[in-house]
Amino acid sequence: SRRASFVVVANRLPVDRVENPDGSQEWRTSPGGLVTAFEPVMRTHRGAWVGWPGSPDDDVEPFVHNDLQLEPVHLSADDVELYYEGFSNGTLWPLYHDVVAPPAYHRDWWDRYVTVNERFAEAAARVADDGGQVWIQDYQLQLVPQLLRQLRPDLKIGFFLHIPFPPTELFQQLPWRSQILQGLLGADLVGFQLPGGAQNFVRLVRQRFSYETRRDRIRTPDGRTVVARAYPIAIDSSSMHDLAMSEETAARAQEIREDLGNPTTIFLGVDRLDYTKGLPERIRAFGELVADGAVDPADAVFLQVATPSRERVEQYRILRDDIDRLVGRINGDTGLLGRPPIIYLHNSYPREEMAAMYRAADVMVVTPLRDGMNLVAKEYVACRDGDNGALVLSEFTGAAKELRQAYLVNPHDIDGLKSTMLAAAGDSSRNKARRMRIMRRHVFDHDIDHWAGQFLDDLGKLGPGSDY
Ligand code: G6P
Repeated sequence: SRRASFVVVANRLPVDRVENPDGSQEWRTSPGGLVTAFEPVMRTHRGAWVGWPGSPDDDVEPFVHNDLQLEPVHLSADDVELYYEGFSNGTLWPLYHDVVAPPAYHRDWWDRYVTVNERFAEAAARVADDGGQVWIQDYQLQLVPQLLRQLRPDLKIGFFLHIPFPPTELFQQLPWRSQILQGLLGADLVGFQLPGGAQNFVRLVRQRFSYETRRDRIRTPDGRTVVARAYPIAIDSSSMHDLAMSEETAARAQEIREDLGNPTTIFLGVDRLDYTKGLPERIRAFGELVADGAVDPADAVFLQVATPSRERVEQYRILRDDIDRLVGRINGDTGLLGRPPIIYLHNSYPREEMAAMYRAADVMVVTPLRDGMNLVAKEYVACRDGDNGALVLSEFTGAAKELRQAYLVNPHDIDGLKSTMLAAAGDSSRNKARRMRIMRRHVFDHDIDHWAGQFLDDLGKLGPGSDY
């Protein structure tokens, strides 16, 4: 296949290969914020995308999908279990999200993380053109910068972490902390969602290796400069807005409101089914509002979309059972005939349907216990058109640092969740419109092109041949 001067490396390709019940196969958009953000970047830069096609034991040749050059990396069933479900999602994911679930440390998970990272580095080394730029994504591939540099010292290498980088004292728990830091130091530019993450990284490097650092710059013993900086990720705001404002979406939003019984207030939650998202707390808070009589199921409903995610990992199965039970209990205890207070959909939907839900929703409830950014919050803002709509947003998301006009809340505080949801629903149109206007301006001025432009401009000034 063609060599490319711009290469993105991510655990997943933007499309997943899924098997239908009749045995036929199709490609479907992959879950999560990373793919949401990166699709438009790739369209602008016409690069190649190295990643896993999403099902084990699937040997797929390089192919072109919607004009994107896709370079599949094969994972065996064992790789999926040890590298993806194990080290990536059983160790790093909970550790980096403030240990809201306990991380597990297993040496065989780590060993496989190393070998799979080597495979991604080799694939990137094959695809990248001489002197090209390679942009590596997220926690699954933190060793790739260093491994790739060993194979291809001619490349400019960037890395971006989509999830939080943890406080130093949590990171120090990791038995392989030095290897991970060295892996990242293979990049010329290491990007984080927030300045705090970049600072934690620099501090760790200084403490552990005594490298010379100055603000966001690190000097490595081999004479390179590594820059660590924050680039809060964004969405393709105008395309999301245009989709939401289309006549089809308007009609579909109206249909959704009718299907829900034309309530006065539709509360909406949209998340991957993940223990970092604060789903039980949010659902419990809404259930109490109904039980207290503060919210009447005859004219309010909570619509919760929970996209299936990492379903073979135990903590995710437990969470799903907990939510099933909680929703069933609340609907059973407080529902009216034909009016369950919570409509819970364990499914994923295309962008068009999501845009219609955002348009239909009066109050968007985004309450993760910890989240690197949260693009759902930004999508909701991009889909609103002025007069109404309110965003309830957890303080512990990256998005809360930008969307200051949201109704901010501590997601662990059930009473706080209750009063904030009520306040958001009951606020005057004037206040809602003012808040939304300010947030919308931010989301439009800081869109995904702006984000990628900033990162790639900086990367362009660093690396081989530069004297930054
Ligand atoms: C988050 C991560 C991504 C990941 C996505 C979906 O957004 O930052 O790296 O791709 O979740 O999770 P999954 O495990 O299905 O790829």
